Amino acid sequence: METVLSGIRSTGNLHLGNYFGAIKNFIKMQHENRCYFFIADYHSLTTHPTPEDLHQNVKQVLVEYLAAGIDPEVATLYIQSDVPEVAELYLLLSMNAYMGELERCTTFKEKARKQPDNINAGLLTYPVLMAADILIHKAHKVPVGKDQEQHLEMARTFGNRFNRLYKTDYFPEPVAFNFGVELIKIPGLDGSTKMGKSEGEGNAIYLADDEKVIRKKIMRAVSDSGPTEMNQPKSQPIENLFNIMNVVSSPDTVAHFEALYNKCEIRYGDMKKQLAEDVIAFTAPLRERILEIGADDAYLSKVARMGAEKARESASKTIKEVREIIGFKPF
Ligand code: TRP
Repeated sequence: METVLSGIRSTGNLHLGNYFGAIKNFIKMQHENRCYFFIADYHSLTTHPTPEDLHQNVKQVLVEYLAAGIDPEVATLYIQSDVPEVAELYLLLSMNAYMGELERCTTFKEKARKQPDNINAGLLTYPVLMAADILIHKAHKVPVGKDQEQHLEMARTFGNRFNRLYKTDYFPEPVAFNFGVELIKIPGLDGSTKMGKSEGEGNAIYLADDEKVIRKKIMRAVSDSGPTEMNQPKSQPIENLFNIMNVVSSPDTVAHFEALYNKCEIRYGDMKKQLAEDVIAFTAPLRERILEIGADDAYLSKVARMGAEKARESASKTIKEVREIIGFKPF
């Protein structure tokens, strides 16, 4: 059985794009592999959140992943900072991570540009911490998006370098994992092709959005002035609305509005009303679970404890072996 590990940013609520892009695959994957899912809260310190925000963000992510269907009895779902072994491996790996390669990292350069007043060392060594996350469980596969591929490459570099330095084959090479299926990409409501929180207010529908918010966002979604000829190709914003409809509505509903569009008889207001109702029907059970789990502190505490325990079992084994390889031996 292969070990799959996924690190989850502890900022930002889940939106429909996350749900269809990754979460649905995680839910399935947890039954087929040894899965570690963790919330990367050490990493989030690079932006100096307040203690309240830090805690609230971690909780929100934990709640939403559980609500979406990650089963903490099946997968190992944990919070990074509950596993101090990660910090030790980070220290050890940092001894053979070089300034030059860290400074050349695209994400470092980008973040340094974005927060010029806070170019802290944690930002520079972010890829080392991420390598520690991955190597601590000797993960084989890491589902990552395009923006994280360079980090994964660095995790391979650090693992291989350790192996070479100590003449061992201790760390396996982690590879990027794409789910073997064409990922469903959910477009934004602002006419752009990507649903994402960085794209601006109103672009994304969050799993935790209530009915009113969903209706408002969809009714305000960008459209166009309507088709003027039969079977006219769709503009991007209209294509987007149909794409979202494709994942939440019945095939009959989609066919109905396709036909109206092709006959130039479509009224986008009607289509949006229908789309809003179908999105609400789809997300309502998720939102209910989010509210329910979010109010159950005893359950959350149990989940976090169980996750930490399972993760530390694997992590402490790695640290013990790594210490021996390096030459730390008891007297
Ligand atoms: N850097 C990742 C992101 O921004 C999050 C992350 C931290 C991660 N550690 C990881 C992802 C280990 C995969 C494996 O999305």
